[in-house]
Amino acid sequence: MAAMQALFSHRVQQIEKSAIHEMTRLSREIDDVAFLSWAKPTSGTPAHINRAAIQAIERGLTGGYSPSDGLIELRQEIVAKLQRDNHIEATISQILVTVGAIEGLAAAVMAAIDPGDEVILPSPTYSTHIRQVQIASGVPVLVPLLEDDGFTLDTEAIQRAITTKTRAIMFCTPSNPTGTVFAEAALRELARLALAHDLMLITDEAYEYFVFDDHQHFSLASMPEMARHVISCFTFTKTYAMTGWRIGYLHAHEDWIPQIKKAHIPFAICAPVVSQYAALAALRGPQACVDEFCKHYLATRDLMCQRLDALPDIFAYQKPGGSYLMFPRILVEEGRDSTSFCKRLLREARVSTTPGIAFGPTGESHMRLSFCVPEETINKAFDRIERFF
Ligand SMILES: Cc1ncc(COP(=O)(O)O)c(C=O)c1O
Repeated sequence: MAAMQALFSHRVQQIEKSAIHEMTRLSREIDDVAFLSWAKPTSGTPAHINRAAIQAIERGLTGGYSPSDGLIELRQEIVAKLQRDNHIEATISQILVTVGAIEGLAAAVMAAIDPGDEVILPSPTYSTHIRQVQIASGVPVLVPLLEDDGFTLDTEAIQRAITTKTRAIMFCTPSNPTGTVFAEAALRELARLALAHDLMLITDEAYEYFVFDDHQHFSLASMPEMARHVISCFTFTKTYAMTGWRIGYLHAHEDWIPQIKKAHIPFAICAPVVSQYAALAALRGPQACVDEFCKHYLATRDLMCQRLDALPDIFAYQKPGGSYLMFPRILVEEGRDSTSFCKRLLREARVSTTPGIAFGPTGESHMRLSFCVPEETINKAFDRIERFF
């Protein structure tokens, strides 16, 4: 241990092992697991996107680097998409193509904060955001969401958490792990706070297209007065089931892009070029696949809620308005330690879930369930959970 302390930075040593990856590792040791623990689309990438990538390879377009901001034609298509679907008026000099949303978020945090700066994270939140702040030597400040109100933003508590050290507020909407679609009014209140306290808002909009019922996704960068205060991160991973392609992008003021690139280039140089051609085909091609994914997730959300309704003494849940994730509270005594509860469920019921503690201390006594799976997987998992209890 002493030797490790000498060889590795405090920055990396303070970071705990990922509970998500740990559950995946444990799940591999068990046969025929009903898997509800990974937030990745299980449908394959649409065929026309795969074909475009193959053609780009065959035409010899993918052997070199692209410009570090990304292919011009891809950034042009992104500008059109942001205007059409997010009501963001952008130019290509405001776009940086990144290695998934993750690398964009990491570069945004690196560019926005100095060591010791505080970043407010409404929580429970996506654990990677917490780690990104820690790796940048920042201080994550976790402000609880209002669970009984559907895991909504507590803007008053966020306001109270702002100090002279606060530099940014970072969040995902729709949310991982709760599935909440933050309401436009609450997001406008965050915008007001950011302007009043000169803060950066770093948004993760990975699940922007998976929104149900009468919820609406709202992008803060659509507010012209926020131009200098928002870095918005997007991805192809969820929208087009392109997890392994590692391709996403961010939008920020054109004066910020050169600063963010100073963090992007040492980690990535540029996003994978073959994936940039695939992303171009995704944006230019038919969009029916996105609607199909969304319809499927709506059906699987309803099924999962129905199955949870049959277990009212064991779980209490808030119905997710978006994403493909939900975050039920575990009511039984042993759920107080979500890690041992989820491990037991895996070993004894062969159902893989993610312990809520992975999403910050306010996530304890919960577990995250993914419904981006076939209906049979949900039924199999819940049949087993019912037998287990
Ligand atoms: C909220 C959120 N942001 C980002 C990501 C990762 O996105 P990407 O594959 O684009 O890096 C995930 C993946 O689970 C996620 O849930």
